[in-house]
Amino acid sequence: MSTQRGGGARRLAATDLREMKRRGDKIAAITAYDFLFARLVDAAGVDVVLVGDSLGHVIQGLDTTLPVTLDDMIYHARAVRRGVERALLVVDLPFLTYQISREDALRNAGRVLRESGASAVKLEGGSPDTCAIVRALVDAGIPVMGHLGFTPQSVNQLGVRVQAREEAAADRLVEDAKRLEEAGAFSVVLELVPGTVAERVTAALSIPTIGIGAGAGCDGQVLVLHDMLGLNPGFTPRFLRIFADVGQVAGDGVREYVRTVKAGEYPAAEHTF
Ligand code: KIV
Repeated sequence: MSTQRGGGARRLAATDLREMKRRGDKIAAITAYDFLFARLVDAAGVDVVLVGDSLGHVIQGLDTTLPVTLDDMIYHARAVRRGVERALLVVDLPFLTYQISREDALRNAGRVLRESGASAVKLEGGSPDTCAIVRALVDAGIPVMGHLGFTPQSVNQLGVRVQAREEAAADRLVEDAKRLEEAGAFSVVLELVPGTVAERVTAALSIPTIGIGAGAGCDGQVLVLHDMLGLNPGFTPRFLRIFADVGQVAGDGVREYVRTVKAGEYPAAEHTF
């Protein structure tokens, strides 16, 4: 039965993900940044749609996610919201919108939920300071997804490389993950960490882990939509699988359009009023 006023299909809630982990149901998450792709991925059955600050790369053509603004995120999240009926909609809090103070974090996360209609936010890191902010958001009724391992907003400190390869770093990652759970996070993304470390974190938590470049032992997986559809051909990390080469098909389509226009074949009689 729908629990929503208006009677539409029930949207997944942050609490449903923990239940999915308990049942052993894998969680399929994916990013989206616009209405049509949001509608497509929701209809295809994903459980979580993430409006990631990866939009800095795949929408804005930036080298890092650091310049992405809160207004950018809200703009894209509003469009995505209109396309999502069933999935849980999570929106990234961009660089320096949650680290400065709890007040700032509350104000900014509140804006995301109020102005976009999203159900949860995601933020990076698991230090005691970050977890105090997670706790403040959760206490205000804002569900929080954590993000550990390679955290793109710290790229200038970390470089783009697999994290937690050494035992001490792996131990720290497990501690950060536990701290996030204690602070009230409802799930944790693990990005670019060895599969064995992701398995340790997954076993240590009752909230689900969502992996990207973290092996098969997580409770779910997330990919950047444009990467897994072959729309970002220069990006070929080992973990990535191209599930449909939409980039190739789209390029072929546009080349054929150009050819037919130049040859005077399009529009043909049947396209003409
Ligand atoms: O910004 C993003 O899309 C992300 C995912 C890669 C997890 O953080």
